[in-house]
Amino acid sequence: MRIIRAKDYDDMSRKAANIIAAQMIMKPDCVLGLATGSTPIGTYAQLVDAYNKGDLDFSTITTVNLDEYKGITKDNDQSYYYFMNDNLFSKVNIDKARTFLPDGMEADSKKACEEYDKIVEKVGGQDLQLLGLGHNGHIGFNEPSDVFKSGTHCVDLTESTIKANQRFFASYDDVPKQAYTMGIKTIMSAKKILVVVSGADKAAILKEVVEGPITPAVQASILQLHDDVTIVADEAALSML
Ligand code: F6R
Repeated sequence: MRIIRAKDYDDMSRKAANIIAAQMIMKPDCVLGLATGSTPIGTYAQLVDAYNKGDLDFSTITTVNLDEYKGITKDNDQSYYYFMNDNLFSKVNIDKARTFLPDGMEADSKKACEEYDKIVEKVGGQDLQLLGLGHNGHIGFNEPSDVFKSGTHCVDLTESTIKANQRFFASYDDVPKQAYTMGIKTIMSAKKILVVVSGADKAAILKEVVEGPITPAVQASILQLHDDVTIVADEAALSML
């Protein structure tokens, strides 16, 4: 694992965006695996800046996102589809027909997951997969478990996640209870993996991911087995390494 030390969140975002930009320049028809969450927001903003300066062209890239809530419409501002449009897709010259997320409105989980695996396979897999890191070591929605799940699958959100999300919805019943996520095999099959980590609250889990045993109890620890992982983390997140 290659660890790149960033001074702070902005520095992390610039460094991560530069790595993604280099990938796009080296291979203009590349497939980018993308993540949502708060950590990559600054990275996307930097990519939008580079696009506005004329330094980046998104017109020939393809994107596949890690995950999406089940049972949520695309226009819901809590959907990951909405997040990606809001933070990146609507601000650059990407071809929307080549941006993919699991279909949250497909009620048949088996069908939704199989179809998403087929899409990822059809586009040729990710040249570069961007990941954030959960406080419990999750990547995508691959939560601590006693197994590593391979392909796209449906996960039950924990009661604490559902309760935490409740503030964004009109009622408890409206809060998604499940999500579709790429599995560990699909993530690990990316040619390159880029992990962005920021903040002192991620320091303990980052240490476990990098230095601890490889275990499904810390799903991101499997990244130790990948040949080309770059972690861009700020000083706060690296404080325990
Ligand atoms: C997002 C995702 C999640 C987040 C993780 C970290 O698509 O799959 O694994 O990357 O929960 O989230 P933040 O960046 O909000 O700390």
